[in-house]
Amino acid sequence: VTDANVAPLWLAQAQATCQAQGWVSNSVILPAGETAKTTDCLHAILAKADEFNLTRNDALIALGGGVVGDTVGLAAALYYRGCGFVQVPSTLLAMVDSSVGGKVAINGARVKNSIGAFYHPHAVLMDTDLLATLPRREWLAGMAEVAKYALIEHAALGGQPALALPLADPVLPLWPWLLQHASALQQPPSSTNPLLTPERLKALLLTCCALKAAVVMRDPDETGGQLDATGRIALNLGHTFGHAYEQTLGYGTLLHGEAVALGLRLAVATSLHLGLLADEEATTVQAGLTALGLGLAWPSLQEAPAETLVVAMSRDKKVRQGKVRLVLPSSPLGNLVIKDNVPSELLVTLFEAQGA
Ligand SMILES: NC(=O)c1ccc[n+]([C@@H]2O[C@H](COP(=O)([O-])OP(=O)(O)OC[C@H]3O[C@@H](n4cnc5c(N)ncnc54)[C@H](O)[C@@H]3O)[C@@H](O)[C@H]2O)c1
Repeated sequence: VTDANVAPLWLAQAQATCQAQGWVSNSVILPAGETAKTTDCLHAILAKADEFNLTRNDALIALGGGVVGDTVGLAAALYYRGCGFVQVPSTLLAMVDSSVGGKVAINGARVKNSIGAFYHPHAVLMDTDLLATLPRREWLAGMAEVAKYALIEHAALGGQPALALPLADPVLPLWPWLLQHASALQQPPSSTNPLLTPERLKALLLTCCALKAAVVMRDPDETGGQLDATGRIALNLGHTFGHAYEQTLGYGTLLHGEAVALGLRLAVATSLHLGLLADEEATTVQAGLTALGLGLAWPSLQEAPAETLVVAMSRDKKVRQGKVRLVLPSSPLGNLVIKDNVPSELLVTLFEAQGA
């Protein structure tokens, strides 16, 4: 299962690979973009699986970005109460984040990802050649999730020693590495980008996946680590703000990663106001995000009134007993705290400042 943008680029090659293994494959092509995370697309996949006589021993393969991965994953979780599921991520965002961890979902009418399940892929196959056709805007959107991993590195490790990955060219600690190479990282990998050699790209992807895995293994079904930010809630940094933008502006206006980038900025601004980060730390992060190409002033922001955004936040899945639960960066960088008493008035002010 792929989408209308990826199909003409990579579907034939993917099917040829299956054929070379002696596997029979069929294809389903969804519309491209966030608006495909619907019950209609979910139903289309399930109907085709039935039409193709798939059994629970067959596999649904998601060839695409996070939208395809999330939607196909939910279909795989439902088909015969769980059939084979393979992720072949084709965006930076899907490679560093959405293809691992087992969260699969479509969007409800009011709340993003509200219809979903935990269903881990049986395999994740990453072919970095797929990034060759990724538009720069999508590359930068993926960089927002990379920046998130850099900003939660310490919390993600939960007191364990630093990651020891068998990498020829390590990129840790991640935040200083991103800052050092920010301008080269604004461009997708290509022969004219000497930074992103295949080895270094692999190191970047594996580092983010290992940080995510460290969190997910501690809290597989998002029931723990809520109060000290050691659970899956850590992965939500910037997302409650970001989801509010996506829901208020309409899915697809901002890319998910762009909304996350705005959310990271708002999380940092909130921490600064609450005294969780020092001036210098907050300034460094905001400047770092800008240097990574994540500082754009998106014109559509003016169409999202701050009060409406705060109401959208209050509908987020992270709401507990009517209070918005926010995960926020705290000093020294890399650490997180949870706050569920951030005043709405402060959030309105910060949203207004972001849109200005
Ligand atoms: N499940 C999770 O844990 C998790 C984590 C983070 C994000 N997500 C979800 O992921 C989604 C965002 O994922 P995304 O940014 O990959 O968006 P996406 O799937 O919409 O892909 C982005 C765009 O790039 C195109 N594209 C994909 N691969 C391409 C390639 N190789 N060459 C050219 N074009 C290509 C797609 O057609 C699409 O237009 C959101 O719905 C978000 O909620 C899920």
